[in-house]
Amino acid sequence: MEIELSGPSAAARSSADSSTRMVLLARAFRERGHLALGMARLLFSRGSWPTAHVCELLAYVRFSGLPALALTEVADDRHGPILHPALIGPGSGSIAEVVALSAIAAALKPKSILEFGTHDGFSAWHLWANSQAQILTIDLPRPARPFLPQDPRIRLLEADSREWEPLPSDQFDLCFIDAGHDYECVRNDSEKALGCLRPGGTALWHDAVWPRDGFAVNRYLRELRSSGHDVRLLRAGFYDYCGLAILRLEGKAR
Ligand SMILES: C[S@@+](CC[C@H](N)C(=O)[O-])C[C@H]1O[C@@H](n2cnc3c(N)ncnc32)[C@H](O)[C@@H]1O
Repeated sequence: MEIELSGPSAAARSSADSSTRMVLLARAFRERGHLALGMARLLFSRGSWPTAHVCELLAYVRFSGLPALALTEVADDRHGPILHPALIGPGSGSIAEVVALSAIAAALKPKSILEFGTHDGFSAWHLWANSQAQILTIDLPRPARPFLPQDPRIRLLEADSREWEPLPSDQFDLCFIDAGHDYECVRNDSEKALGCLRPGGTALWHDAVWPRDGFAVNRYLRELRSSGHDVRLLRAGFYDYCGLAILRLEGKAR
């Protein structure tokens, strides 16, 4: 009788492998089935649209077409971000993204910041509170900006960004692009931002993943990536939903 000293034969191993694969496949089907059932229930129950919408927003983070960069690779915990007590500004994205924006401003120590899209001043407040930078923030005219600090470090320019032309002396260490989200505006703002970023400077885009409602940030960023720019989706937390994208220019930041 032949005694097997070296473990199961190749045939036995391959049959064990294929039954493990079958078990895993069955488990995956069962889990996906539960998930699909849960989603269907959610979609057809009353008052569930906001929840379903959040699920969809989260899902688009997975389909962004941009590789991820962890927040910890840009910001570190030696510089805790300063956060506004009213961390609920409308149009300001998820809390994780406001924290990420603040942490990046604190870590990169920019001396000059350009922001497209001031709105109520919520993101400008966080850029201001977390840096010593001079900040130029551009937005269409509006009657009030409750969060915008009245401080000599902040210059508000009320103009259509498509008509604004940077001066040769306009040079920035950090640009935050969050004004018009249609293709023309995103392209205009991004090209102007990239044109006046210093070597080693950083550009950030908000709403980098949502592809509907006329939002074209994701389309523009995918094109930018195809043209050779290493733009990435910043992974700030598990439940990111608007999507912050980041591009760090080559060169030494000042
Ligand atoms: C999403 S909000 C900005 C939110 C802000 N960054 C924050 O997080 O607190 C977008 C802003 O872009 C402005 N905007 C839209 N189109 C613009 C344009 N062509 N030029 C300048 N600002 C524009 C809108 O007026 C609006 O206030």
